[in-house]
Amino acid sequence: MEFFIDTADVAEIREAQSMGVLDGVTTNPSLVAKTGRPFREVLEEICSIVDGPISAEVVATDADGMVAEGGRLAAIHPNITVKLPLTVDGIKACKALAGRGIKTNLTLCFSANQALLAAKAGATFVSPFVGRLDDIGQDGMALINDIVTIYRNYGYATKVLVASIRHPEHVHAAALMGAHVATIPFAVIRKLAAHPLTDKGLAAFLADWQGTGETI
Ligand code: E4P
Repeated sequence: MEFFIDTADVAEIREAQSMGVLDGVTTNPSLVAKTGRPFREVLEEICSIVDGPISAEVVATDADGMVAEGGRLAAIHPNITVKLPLTVDGIKACKALAGRGIKTNLTLCFSANQALLAAKAGATFVSPFVGRLDDIGQDGMALINDIVTIYRNYGYATKVLVASIRHPEHVHAAALMGAHVATIPFAVIRKLAAHPLTDKGLAAFLADWQGTGETI
């Protein structure tokens, strides 16, 4: 399973990258706005830190505008993946950009039918938002299961990128379902490594070792 970090904060990206488990980065307009920095500058810095797909989202809402913005974003670095909203215009733009060999990530996916359209349009990734579905009382992970099953049924090459992850259990469930990628906030990446029995066991090992007076 590939792990992307879901942030535009370069300090977080550097820290996660130092763990050696990062395969890519996803950003969105809200995450970029939070940095207070110019979009292009942030993207260039992210591309210099992580060697993998870096999602950068368009803000145009018409297909021609999305294609134009997508072309400009893709020109920044070969690892840029153009993020497009899962609308009719986004699907048209996906088809056009995919035809030019540009990687795409169809975002704001909330249904299996939207994911089917993304695959048929040649999207590199589709991003179903599990946390936002959970927030309105629906089952985000059930959508992941549906999309993984449908893509397997037809052999679609589009990768399922689980987004809007809120907690480690989302990652665990996504891995069991065979989702290709999880894009994970920094705080949740840290939580993946945490277990109280690990902390307790380590403290006991170190206390016992100290009693031996030995060094390694
Ligand atoms: C990533 O591609 C998405 O934009 C992100 O996961 C959305 O997360 P949120 O629902 O926590 O804003």
